[in-house]
Amino acid sequence: MSTDNPMPVDHYAGYRGLPALVGLMDMKSASTHGLTITESVERLKRLHWALRRLHGIFVAHLASMPIYELKMAFSLHAHYCAEHVLHLAGRIREMRQPPYGLDNTPHPSLDIFFDEILAAPSTPALILGLYEHAIPAVHSSLEALLRDTSRLFDHPTYRAARFAQVEFSEICDYAGSAVHAMVTNTDRATLGGWSTSLQSILAHAGGLDGTMPHATAEPVRVFSAQPFHYNSIPQRDERFIDPYNMGVNAEAMLFNPEIPAQPKTLMLFFKRMREIDVPEMMSSILAETPGKPWEYYRDMTRQLWDEARHAMMGEVGFVSLGIDWRAIPFNFTWSLGLNTMLEPLERHAVLFTIEQGLMPKKNGKEYEWEVAVASANRLSELIQDYDWADEIVHAKVGRDWLVPQIGSQAEALAFGDKSWSRTLVDWAKWREDRLTDHRNWWAEVYSKACEHWGIAPDPNILAYNATYESLRPDMKEVSA
Ligand SMILES: [Fe+2]
Ligand SMILES: [Fe+2]
Repeated sequence: MSTDNPMPVDHYAGYRGLPALVGLMDMKSASTHGLTITESVERLKRLHWALRRLHGIFVAHLASMPIYELKMAFSLHAHYCAEHVLHLAGRIREMRQPPYGLDNTPHPSLDIFFDEILAAPSTPALILGLYEHAIPAVHSSLEALLRDTSRLFDHPTYRAARFAQVEFSEICDYAGSAVHAMVTNTDRATLGGWSTSLQSILAHAGGLDGTMPHATAEPVRVFSAQPFHYNSIPQRDERFIDPYNMGVNAEAMLFNPEIPAQPKTLMLFFKRMREIDVPEMMSSILAETPGKPWEYYRDMTRQLWDEARHAMMGEVGFVSLGIDWRAIPFNFTWSLGLNTMLEPLERHAVLFTIEQGLMPKKNGKEYEWEVAVASANRLSELIQDYDWADEIVHAKVGRDWLVPQIGSQAEALAFGDKSWSRTLVDWAKWREDRLTDHRNWWAEVYSKACEHWGIAPDPNILAYNATYESLRPDMKEVSA
């Protein structure tokens, strides 16, 4: 009997061998596998919720996480989560399954799982929960979704999940290193019971994506048995010395036309790395501002991550000059003051006021970029180039979200200015209270850089000693 089938499903090909179905999948799998809309939405909702909860955990621990590298990692990973929450929600809304329930948990045990990680009482527990349990569970759920749904029928889901998968693969690689670095065998032994209980909580939800059989054992709360208390007080690790030190006014040097560009690059690197305080502060706005549209959290988290990048750019700058940045005090007084003395809206207004102040040509980001170009230090030029571009994006975030809430740009600026002044009265008191001597660290760092540049320090620049006692970083007088 002839088996001449001109269109065999197993060996189906397009015109002159062109890939059929645009090469997305072969005919055999296109005709045999795929998820229904209901099944696909079910999984997307689980993933969407997981990323929302993960975003919340990264943000809630960002200020109080002392370890700088982890603070930076939480910034990036919160950004990835915030972006994909929006993509996944968009896809869910296209799939005619209302009510979408995007603000409700798809399964109560999923929330217990994330509550447990949120409430992790130590860095090893937090790292283990996030990077050995939650992130790999998201990663494998994305993998399963990509494997199970039809790339043709459900192509928009395939795209959204594939993009998320690229970034979650990156987080997974980081996760492995983070667990390796931060979780000792002793931690593992201590946290063994909790790890097992995290697995059973997830099993009760049928796995993160709900595709596994639901375990019957009722989940038991361990760390989340007590309600979680958000801690907005910024912490730094032991490499960050003298955190109240405001003994060297970077801006007063930067805007001094008498001082040449080259030493100013050090102040630019300092200003960039000091920006560790912006994610610390912005995370507190996010953690303490519920009920906004997700676009708000997405935009604010993007900015938060940009600020973390700026800090790391400064780190790159110092290391490129052979300068040990551990000798430089990066004060945390701004994030501390704002997080503990101001309401979230006031904090946002302060940020907006500072950022608007960076827009004018003469004393803003463009000027910093010009200094960097004039210094003939290409790295410094690159840093300021991107810092300036990012700043324009940030000013827009403020105009989009803060200004409409306050009324007008002028009112927002006045509100921010007034709020900021309330946090700036303690310079002398910190010294009285022996929190700092406001030691002038400039001469050491400048001398070190001169060594690297192979030049003799200029005695006038070496003697630089303007502080922040009476001049704010925006060059306005500190009002008592
Ligand atoms: Fe910045
Ligand atoms: Fe910014």
